[in-house]
Amino acid sequence: MRIDVVTIFPSYFAALDLSLMGRAQAQGLLSVGVHDLREWTDDRHRTVDDTPYGGGAGMVMRPDVWGRALDEVLTAPLPPREGTEPPSSGPPQGPRRVLALPTPSGTPLTQRMAEDLAGADQIVLACGRYEGIDQRVADHYRSEEHEVVEFSLGDYVLNGGEVAALVLIEAVGRLVEGVVGNPESLVEESYSTEGLLEYPAYTKPRSWRGMEVPEILLGGNHAAIARWRRDRSLVRTAHRRPDLVARLHTSHLDIQDREVLASAGRVVRPRRAEVLIRQAREGEARAVSELARATFPLACPAFLTEADIEAFAEDHLSESEFARMLADPDDHRVLVAQLKDGSQELIGYTLTILGGPDAMPAEMVRRGRLELGAAYLSKCYVSSDWHGSGVAGALLERAVADVAARGRNSQVALGTNIANKRARNFYRRHGFSLAGRRTFMVGEVANIDDVLVRNITVHQP
Ligand code: ADE
Repeated sequence: MRIDVVTIFPSYFAALDLSLMGRAQAQGLLSVGVHDLREWTDDRHRTVDDTPYGGGAGMVMRPDVWGRALDEVLTAPLPPREGTEPPSSGPPQGPRRVLALPTPSGTPLTQRMAEDLAGADQIVLACGRYEGIDQRVADHYRSEEHEVVEFSLGDYVLNGGEVAALVLIEAVGRLVEGVVGNPESLVEESYSTEGLLEYPAYTKPRSWRGMEVPEILLGGNHAAIARWRRDRSLVRTAHRRPDLVARLHTSHLDIQDREVLASAGRVVRPRRAEVLIRQAREGEARAVSELARATFPLACPAFLTEADIEAFAEDHLSESEFARMLADPDDHRVLVAQLKDGSQELIGYTLTILGGPDAMPAEMVRRGRLELGAAYLSKCYVSSDWHGSGVAGALLERAVADVAARGRNSQVALGTNIANKRARNFYRRHGFSLAGRRTFMVGEVANIDDVLVRNITVHQP
């Protein structure tokens, strides 16, 4: 690839002789020419600018000087492309020449643009100074023979285009075949095909200033490491670049991806939304009770009657029951998922009982598997509109982390109807395993539940 730079400060570009760009030039992968715009002036003072028509501050670069420079640079012969045969039929194909103009009013430079420009035969960078280059220059060269790209580095103003030109040259140059030694390193980078930021990286020493490298990276479980890295990418992107999350293709996101994004406050399915997972407040007994009554039937087997379900709701899901539990956060932990939009709607909740009279019933104990004193995850429900959103998994992980942070229980246990395969798979995926069965009364009807348990690492509060 041929790169030409036209500037009034050629010495800025000495940096291109260093490092990867320097080596790429030495190897003939890139050929870079830096030209002084003043070579094309025709007056004693080598003038390149003048006052703006229409008035205003600053100076504008003259089109006549730029025209002479660019006519010459954009028509210079280019070496034939390596490895490409000229087409045997059809009209002769000229080289792909791109004129790139750095300007704060340009299109933001992206990795996509860099990937596209890496396929050009020649890129000519015209570095403006002052108030920029007379607009007719860009308009004149935009033609069948040339593409013109007016690009910006970001929403800030630099003194001129030189730094932006260096950025584009490096972003494009490293994508030219052979420039980066290990092409695999290009694949995992931030902004590559998937549109996620890169995961954090660690190296030796393993312990530095009291901070440890994450344990998972020290083992050889490649699948677990890949999953951990993907989770970190998702969380980073959600926190730092919600604009990128908004553009993710949901078909590329599996349920664990959606759960991780929901934990970071971003839901992408069934529609995009912001969500907050937090502890329920004392005044919210009515809202939580309504959500509990609406969602409880979703997990009931078909043979239960409305009357049985209603009897259960009256006893266990009433506003007064939730008011009692919300008033006692030592033993009763209620987390809610709330939409962060005008509606402020609660779309899911968990209820975990850490101890006290409502604690896990003794008949659930299975010696050696599930001990008395396990935290009892009594409820984990998401309203049907949001099934598949990842909110349930996000709530569950927050509930487990909350138990661990309270420091009283080293297990979390729950019961789920034996016919509810979806729930069983969900809890299995979240590290729960079968400890036994129990009978669970809904109204007058005895139901058989699987009892599932997950061991947790307790943090001392
Ligand atoms: N020239 C001055 N500011 C610029 C920016 N933000 N991006 C590209 N070129 C510039």
